[in-house]
Amino acid sequence: MSISQCLLIKNGRVIDPSQNLDAITDILVRDGKIVAIGKAIPVRPDEPLESLDVSGLVVTPGWIDIHTHLREPGGTHKETIETGTRSAAAGGFTSIACMANTQPVNDSSYITTYIRQKVSSDSPVNVFPIGAVTKGLKGEELAEIGSMREAGIVAISDDGKTVMNAYLFRKALDYSRRFDLVVISHAEDLNLKGRGVMNEGFNSARFGLRGIPKAAEEVIVARDIYLAELTGARLHIAHASTAGSVALIREAKRRGIQVTAEVTPHHLTLTDEAVGPYDTNTKVAPPLREKEDIEALQEAVADGTIDALASDHAPHAREEKEVEYDHAEFGMVGLETAFPLYYSKVLKNHWDLSQLVSAMTWKPAQIIGVKKGTLQVGADADISIFDPKHEWTIDRQAFLSKSQNSPFHGWSMTGKPAFTIVAGKVIYRSAHLKGKS
Ligand code: DOR
Repeated sequence: MSISQCLLIKNGRVIDPSQNLDAITDILVRDGKIVAIGKAIPVRPDEPLESLDVSGLVVTPGWIDIHTHLREPGGTHKETIETGTRSAAAGGFTSIACMANTQPVNDSSYITTYIRQKVSSDSPVNVFPIGAVTKGLKGEELAEIGSMREAGIVAISDDGKTVMNAYLFRKALDYSRRFDLVVISHAEDLNLKGRGVMNEGFNSARFGLRGIPKAAEEVIVARDIYLAELTGARLHIAHASTAGSVALIREAKRRGIQVTAEVTPHHLTLTDEAVGPYDTNTKVAPPLREKEDIEALQEAVADGTIDALASDHAPHAREEKEVEYDHAEFGMVGLETAFPLYYSKVLKNHWDLSQLVSAMTWKPAQIIGVKKGTLQVGADADISIFDPKHEWTIDRQAFLSKSQNSPFHGWSMTGKPAFTIVAGKVIYRSAHLKGKS
């Protein structure tokens, strides 16, 4: 008989919205599962027990990022499964879902299986692959949705590109029901977007850059909501960025259509004003918008219109970003800055802490249909612990990600991931805790 491994996490403020819990208490983990929550949990004297005193820290179910780009296979000069998942662990995430826009694209069970095998040897966190909607993300022919589902995908998406053919998208929604998969929409009408590189408006005119109108996003959000209604399928809107999208999603929910949505840290904290110094790290799809959009997005998280807080971690190499704004790739890294930005820059004035935790734990778990995001007894012991008081400055040179394309370098933060625990094992411990506990 093997000896059980136990971990006792003591004296933390435990917040678990899945069971309406907010209390200073202890958690006992045995063999990768939560076995008890409460004070003075009895432990067996014969069992080896590791004890972690987390006084002053906040303990939550493990954070889940449903929107990460890991780049492997094919883009390993930007990120590998190993570097991306270490970056996730350092950002406090215990689970991530990775998008299909790798090379080759994850549009078949072979690629899904390849990713899962790589993950089992290289990743400290759980990785849930997302399959493509169309072969090669070309928008012409459906990918092998059924066999990818058997191989382990949790959702389908052509993220990075929009499926412009509404007939094909409808078919994908129809199929997704059969396989109980959510369809994630990257909502940007490619014709309206054209060769635009930033939000269309006063600032694009000022900076002399081609604009992308908000309508490019909103027409696809509206289309996909109608198609979700038509098919009865589950639709998820990735990186909602405009007040107009929020209004459409709110109305669709009111009408009982199965739609969920996510927002990113950058769309909640930066406006298109940030493009001013032509820092290509601000170039992202969809683009940074305006103050009124940020306000609508903040409110939408507070009232539940937006369900999940994602990262849209999109690593790109230096040579792909250190070029003219027009030629730079779209995207920014986000795993190591997502939670700190949400916690330091948005939370105080707009949400309560349990809303933030819900949107990073059980709500994203429900969207992709995985049994995660809770600290209930019997659940996997995936736990994120953060230090709410630690003050620090974002330094992109210190990222564990292979890429450094962040516009947040030099920003001051209060609050930092402290411990990341997956299946009862501490896989990340922040250096700032040295000398403590
Ligand atoms: O800016 C973005 N970059 N948006 C996306 O949707 C895709 C991503 C990427 O893959 O680089």
